[in-house]
Amino acid sequence: MTLDVASAILNRRAIKQFDPAYAMPDSDMEKILDLARRMPTAFNIQNWRFVVVKDPDLRRRIRAAAWDQPQVTDASVLLVLCADLKAWEKKPGRYWENAQPDIQAVMTAAIDQYYRGREQVQRDEGMRSCGMAAGAIMLLAQSMGYGTCPMDGFDFGAVGALINLPADHEIVMFVAIGKPAAPPKPTGGVLPRAELVLNDTFPA
Ligand SMILES: Cc1cc2nc3c(=O)[nH]c(=O)nc-3n(C[C@H](O)[C@H](O)[C@H](O)COP(=O)(O)O)c2cc1C
Repeated sequence: MTLDVASAILNRRAIKQFDPAYAMPDSDMEKILDLARRMPTAFNIQNWRFVVVKDPDLRRRIRAAAWDQPQVTDASVLLVLCADLKAWEKKPGRYWENAQPDIQAVMTAAIDQYYRGREQVQRDEGMRSCGMAAGAIMLLAQSMGYGTCPMDGFDFGAVGALINLPADHEIVMFVAIGKPAAPPKPTGGVLPRAELVLNDTFPA
């Protein structure tokens, strides 16, 4: 099944109940992540890391660190989106390997100049990258007939220890993906366009 983007957006909801008996084929998860990796990152640093958690025992332990939310164990896959805060300094030439050598040199110098010594910017960039990836992942999964739940209701430190998170990485969020077991409750609602969309500037 393939849905157009607008339909995927309109049909996506945060799914709270998944069918625990349903196993998503690995090939579907690979397809989702291979497409999501085509989303943009600043300077093409691809500072996202995707931890695909399937081990049932690990999922039980993560659930205990996530307010016992059932999506953590009952979805087919629990995806932990992480940011590599130091991706910018890890052989940055590989982010521009297809470019001409002079362009590659310019870009690697620019990357270094932009991120070095700017811890907040490094962290913010990880949040931007993983946020965009999470949006794409949810819409791709929706278009393939799956349901998803974005999540940040968990103990970040405890989950980091459980997945052996490197010291220079940070967890951004979860996306649980699987087969919905129950329709979601009515949406909380969408604020009026006039409150959210501004023309040119905020009011003076
Ligand atoms: C960053 C983020 C974190 C969230 N964390 C949780 C969570 O821990 N548990 C949960 O059940 N829903 C969580 N949600 C789902 C939101 O409550 C839900 O997306 C929102 O109410 C809008 O509803 P809808 O996604 O069905 O349109 C989260 C959503 C986002 C974007």
